Amino acid sequence: MLHRRAAQLQKHASHNKLEEKDVEKFASILSTPETSLLTTLKTSKGPKPVDASELDLFNNDWMNKYHGQSVCVLKPKTTQEVSEIMKYCFERKLAVVPQGGNTGLVGGGVPVLDEVIINLGAMNKIRSFNEISGTLVCDAGCILESLDNHIAEKGYMMPLDLGAKGSCQIGGNVATNAGGLRFLRYGSLHGNVLGLEVVLPNGTVLDGLSTLRKDNTGFDLKQLFIGSEGTIGLITGVSIITPRRPSAFNVAVFAVDSFEAVQNVFSKVKAHCGEILSAFEFFDNQSLEMVKAHATAGVKDPFQDKHPFYVLIETSGSKKEHDDEKVNELLEELMESSAIVDGVLAQDETQVQSLWALRESIPEAAGKLGSTYKYDVSMPVELMNELVEDMRSRLDKHGLMGNKVKEVVGYGHIGDGNLHINIIADKFDPAVEEVIEPYIYEWLAKVNGSISAEHGLGRMKGEKIGYSKSPASVAIMKDIKHLFDPENLLNPYKYLPSDK
Ligand code: FAD
Ligand code: MLT
Ligand code: ZN
Repeated sequence: MLHRRAAQLQKHASHNKLEEKDVEKFASILSTPETSLLTTLKTSKGPKPVDASELDLFNNDWMNKYHGQSVCVLKPKTTQEVSEIMKYCFERKLAVVPQGGNTGLVGGGVPVLDEVIINLGAMNKIRSFNEISGTLVCDAGCILESLDNHIAEKGYMMPLDLGAKGSCQIGGNVATNAGGLRFLRYGSLHGNVLGLEVVLPNGTVLDGLSTLRKDNTGFDLKQLFIGSEGTIGLITGVSIITPRRPSAFNVAVFAVDSFEAVQNVFSKVKAHCGEILSAFEFFDNQSLEMVKAHATAGVKDPFQDKHPFYVLIETSGSKKEHDDEKVNELLEELMESSAIVDGVLAQDETQVQSLWALRESIPEAAGKLGSTYKYDVSMPVELMNELVEDMRSRLDKHGLMGNKVKEVVGYGHIGDGNLHINIIADKFDPAVEEVIEPYIYEWLAKVNGSISAEHGLGRMKGEKIGYSKSPASVAIMKDIKHLFDPENLLNPYKYLPSDK
């Protein structure tokens, strides 16, 4: 389906096709064109052309669902280089895709057609870290996990954590307003990001790298770029407040016999653990079975029997004895009240990692099982499992379950009201997609849910935003896009509905 749509999609009439002279101009801007410019185009002054396969990594997304046909990838090393490239692209009307670690799950970071890819990976320097305030200022291309390791030495940690931490970049995290596993405790990037340096589509550098915690002077422009998915500016620098790294962690996984029990446990855990609760995740039995069958290293089922649902909780604090006491009391209470059927509490760091692996391996296992239709939604918690069950019976009714569809799994950041529903098919297939969509979006609109809790809109859901936002809101968003990017050069064909 997507292949077909992409093929039908016409290049924006005013956008130009990349030519030899453009590549030569890029080569003159980049300080190290031999390593910072990959192109299949032959030029007389630019670097040696590469084989098209060398661009595969940049043209195809993590799920292998979205495929672009760019012939040019640029990896600038400085904000100045990004600015000069954008200024030139603006004058020449060349469309551009900003790309971070390319771990996005909605097709936002890869081209739709032949847009030039600007990959931020070579902008990976830490600019400063204030050990008193915990304020980190860094290039947008820094890998999330590297940042976390860097500040760990100083007793701090990043306020967000994702399964993709080893590849995703902080600029990509900000551009998608990524949520993840620490959201419950530390909240959204809208609260943690203190400032941004952004290159606008015309090449202007908007230097907003403030480290101030409080600043009420005018519109808070950085907020517009958080979650803008590379449609109105290229983020080149990030200033972010980081919390102290807790010294005591506890992780437990509980087995429960119904989805009502998941909610009941959430309520009890919140009441009991209070301020030390740092994650509350859930996954269904289908997720666990898939992980056991398909995930790599380190995943062992800690339970002897199968159960319909599992809950993972993490507590973190600064006094181990205090936290241990609270968690042990919680376990007793949950067992005595029969709120849970079984439970395991990690006894050491290795067990902490292996319990987390049960939850964090789900996306990887789904990818190994087949081609995954991923839906990342929010809604009142009590309705979540209803959606998963409805989807299973709908696919069954259409004769797809166990046939073209291998599995439907439900998991997610239930503590944040965020469900991930993955439908794993043998291949991306219009016959499967049309049974899922628009049904799932209509379902969510009826319960006032959101069609994207954290992954964003990208290529997948730009045309669908109306299921979650009013026409008046979408019209204002289009005005904002036009204000920043009148030529629609940055990440075209994504994020917002096209003008029909
Ligand atoms: P990319 O995928 O490269 O790009 C994503 C979008 O941001 C694109 O639209 C791109 O154009 C834009 N962009 C990237 N860098 C910039 C920049 N510097 N300036 C402007 N625009 C830019 N997401 C969650 O929210 N929560 C999770 O728990 C979570 N877990 C994940 C687990 C796995 C295993 C995987 C594969 C993905 C997961 N994701 C999750 C999705 C993804 O990792 C996040 O969206 C992440 O923030 C994307 O970062 P990236 O650097 O890979 O960006
Ligand atoms: C997660 O929570 O594991 C991520 O958002 C990724 C996914 O849903 O696949
Ligand atoms: Zn998630």
